[in-house]
Amino acid sequence: MAHDTFLDPDALLRDALARVSATNDPETLRAIDREFLQKGGVVASMLASIPTLPPEQRKSTGQRANQIKAALEAALLEKKRALEDAALDGGATGAPFDATLPAARTERGSLHPITQVTRELEDLFTSMGYVVLDGPEVERDWYNFEALNIPKDHPARDSQDTFYVAGRGDLVLRTHTSPCQVRAMETMKPPFRAIVPGKVFRQETTDASHEHTFHQMEGLVVGKDISVGHLIGAMKTLLRGVFGREIEVRLRPGFFPFVEPGFELDAKCPFCKSGCSVCKQSTWIELLPCGMVHPNVLRSGGIDPEEWSGFAFGLGLSRLVMLRAKIDDVRHLLSGDLRFLEQF
Ligand code: PHE
Repeated sequence: MAHDTFLDPDALLRDALARVSATNDPETLRAIDREFLQKGGVVASMLASIPTLPPEQRKSTGQRANQIKAALEAALLEKKRALEDAALDGGATGAPFDATLPAARTERGSLHPITQVTRELEDLFTSMGYVVLDGPEVERDWYNFEALNIPKDHPARDSQDTFYVAGRGDLVLRTHTSPCQVRAMETMKPPFRAIVPGKVFRQETTDASHEHTFHQMEGLVVGKDISVGHLIGAMKTLLRGVFGREIEVRLRPGFFPFVEPGFELDAKCPFCKSGCSVCKQSTWIELLPCGMVHPNVLRSGGIDPEEWSGFAFGLGLSRLVMLRAKIDDVRHLLSGDLRFLEQF
């Protein structure tokens, strides 16, 4: 940068100070700073020229350069502060800065209601000695059906409208979390207690109460002399955890090939005393299918049914969330619609 005033340091400084005082623009101040003070700027060039000067001029040139630097730095800083103060007082817009105004609200996300319920139940069941397991969503026919006492030609297969993996007759999208019963038996030695929350899939025409993808939580307890009494006790504890108080339950017979006897467990409607829309005026809510693990299933998992027994339940997490939050259409859950999700 050619400065005609280079040889006249006084004029140089006067010129720079005049430009600082003439501007109210922070960007211009930064430009002056770059031009004079930064690497490659005027002051730096002055200092760099010292070795080429006659010896008697060297000292005074160095001192002058440093004086210019100090004076200009001070002027720039003062101007910058003045501009900041002015901005607080309203600056160009004339609207004073109000330090008491609340900050712009930050958007906060929340956990999906299914995740919330899953975590609550995981806490509840782990406190009762259950382990939390995971299993594959693309499952082998063996685990999803065969090992659960549902052979190829069994009519129970028709009631679970299955997505088969194209070209792979042995692979399905799991229609329930029950295949994890057998997987659990393969990896753990009895006695044990486990829950397996997860996604399941059924080829269904969707409507307000049917969705092709939904969530279940399998429960499995295997031990010595496990009885229906243990099953009922565990389910009552579950309900106490979910609804925060004691809730009456009843068992009706229910058929599933992998339990014997099998039950449908109903809970007294937590929302009414004499009938409401949630319990369809019956005061009972169908809550979950369950039963005593069928000996064939224990055998599939390598466990001797003469020595061990167990119970299993299949909690519909999607249904539970709907019940608790009074959601009237299951399709909301996986819609990804923020207007729905922001309510949780
Ligand atoms: N897996 C069954 C279903 O999805 C539910 C179930 C689980 C029934 C465990 C009994 C025991 O329909």
